[in-house]
Amino acid sequence: MRKILVTGGAGFIGSAVVRQFISETPHSVVNVDKLTYSGNLESLKSVSKDPRYYFEHVDICDGEALQRVFETHKPDCVMHLAAESHVDRSISGPSEFIRTNIVGTYTLLEASRNYWVSLAPEKKQSFRFHHISTDEVYGSLGNEGFFTEETPYSPNSPYSASKASSDHLVRAWHHTYGLPVVTTNCSNNYGPYHFPEKLIPLMILNAMKGRPLPVYGKGENIRDWLYVEDHARALRLVLDRGKIGESYNIGGGNEKTNLEVVHTVCSILDELLPSDSPHASLITFVKDRPGHDYRYAIDASKIENELGWIPLETFESGIRKTVEWYISNAEWVDHVTSGEYRNWIENHYEKGIS
Ligand code: NAD
Ligand code: TYD
Repeated sequence: MRKILVTGGAGFIGSAVVRQFISETPHSVVNVDKLTYSGNLESLKSVSKDPRYYFEHVDICDGEALQRVFETHKPDCVMHLAAESHVDRSISGPSEFIRTNIVGTYTLLEASRNYWVSLAPEKKQSFRFHHISTDEVYGSLGNEGFFTEETPYSPNSPYSASKASSDHLVRAWHHTYGLPVVTTNCSNNYGPYHFPEKLIPLMILNAMKGRPLPVYGKGENIRDWLYVEDHARALRLVLDRGKIGESYNIGGGNEKTNLEVVHTVCSILDELLPSDSPHASLITFVKDRPGHDYRYAIDASKIENELGWIPLETFESGIRKTVEWYISNAEWVDHVTSGEYRNWIENHYEKGIS
């Protein structure tokens, strides 16, 4: 039985990790989260009453608060997911990305190191700092090839540059101080509890309400979609069995153009919630994102061969589950789409829709 400190556990991926730990393992979880616009404790309703679940409302940039959390809970390892995660927001306002993703990761690394050096030898040896990052640090691919763990870093957006910085800090804390770290870089996740500013939940909810479906440029950009529960399983495996100092790419093997994704969402909705005209008639091509990366695609053979992980969900099965989840969870959606979120969406698309 271990106690795992998860940062960003109220977010999309973090909440899936926390739910899996509590419902599928004997471990305890300390969720350290600032509850920004994208953090929502309602995503943890199913596990929050469990005596193995603890919540700490803390900003990872606050070193003193982190020190108190480490002293109070004495975790066996850290999984670091807290971040600002949306590329479009990083373009219109990069400063929170620099603060949380870079300064926050640095502050968490220092708090972890101070705690780790104080541990007894056995606990010190089994301690892990697992950093959760993105394939966007590798930049953009053309039509051929895949990102491997050896692909040089070439981040293009303020978001990916801030995540690349955090990856480098984690690497340096291992090489310089010996902190036992592992890093994972994953492709685009989708699934339940996804904040509706990202492509898939935005399209599902807009289509359900008969609103325009804003597709950037010609919708030809390609992403490699990974079902969030498959990702959470991979993260638990890497925490248990990943080699110290190494990184692992995690991808779903589901490359799709954005237009294919939106058409798939629309045809599932045509079936589940038929309306007068096909949902695809709502597709609206809008101004492209500045510096829009063309294609991301992961070579996941390292995690598959070394740790035996494979995704269980196909895109077809995962996207159907996701659409069904949003149809059945109107209350969660209502609560996350707060005033702050509505302002962002209105300002973002006001000028964008052509
Ligand atoms: P999310 O935006 O849904 O959740 C982020 C969480 O971090 C929220 O609960 C938020 O409240 C918390 N947080 C933000 N700033 C904080 C701070 N200063 N202190 C404490 N908590 C703070 O993000 P997500 O999609 O769940 O992503 C989780 C991690 O996975 C991130 O590190 C992200 O970069 C990475 N990632 C995400 C994807 C994806 O497709 N969603 C893909 C690759 C990598
Ligand atoms: P997103 O979900 O923001 O993830 P990321 O930018 O991290 O890959 O976007 C996924 C793709 O969908 C990306 O190519 C941008 C595109 N997109 C749209 O076409 N319209 C939208 O409204 C959004 C949010 C994204």
